[in-house]
Amino acid sequence: MQGDRTIEGVLLSAEQIAIRVRELGAQITADYKPLVDWTAPQPNIMAVGILKGVVPFYADLVRAIDLPIAFDFMAVSSYGAATATSGTVRILKDLDKAAEDRHLLVVEDIVDTGLTLSYLKENLLRRNPLSLKIVTLLNKPERRKTSITPDYNGFEIPDVFVVGYGLDCGENYRNLPYIGIIRT
Ligand code: PRP
Repeated sequence: MQGDRTIEGVLLSAEQIAIRVRELGAQITADYKPLVDWTAPQPNIMAVGILKGVVPFYADLVRAIDLPIAFDFMAVSSYGAATATSGTVRILKDLDKAAEDRHLLVVEDIVDTGLTLSYLKENLLRRNPLSLKIVTLLNKPERRKTSITPDYNGFEIPDVFVVGYGLDCGENYRNLPYIGIIRT
């Protein structure tokens, strides 16, 4: 137990996550191989992690991608302290590197209402990347409020409150190696 809530059950075990992340890495490697510019001084493919929940997934996924890939991160705030989505997206930390002349692979831990990604996609496309795709570990289509569709999905999950493997409840549970369910 962390904080004042108890884990009710395991939705995805560490083993299930590891297997799926390897599959996603293999798929992304195959899809992006033709896009690699082997002559460029820096990788022309860039994995853009959306902090902070993405950290474990990002670290595992990039190691499952067998291509030159640059790292960069953004931090946005879409939620308050409560579990409800406010709909407001604010950039707290922007990319360090230019998006132009790079293929962007936006890496998320979860797509819920889709408000965060809709905003980010539009914002990043205005910077003229060579391409933009989205990979998410978890997808909750039931809760969607926008038309956003991730290009790569780890798992489609029901509308339950999930924690662990980066996902938090009031900053608790991020360090669990599996994804668990808590009562909201
Ligand atoms: C989560 C997640 C996405 C967003 C998805 O981040 O990482 O960025 O919410 O929700 P949406 O589809 O309803 O917009 P959160 O704001 O909880 O921040 P964190 O990653 O730092 O925990």
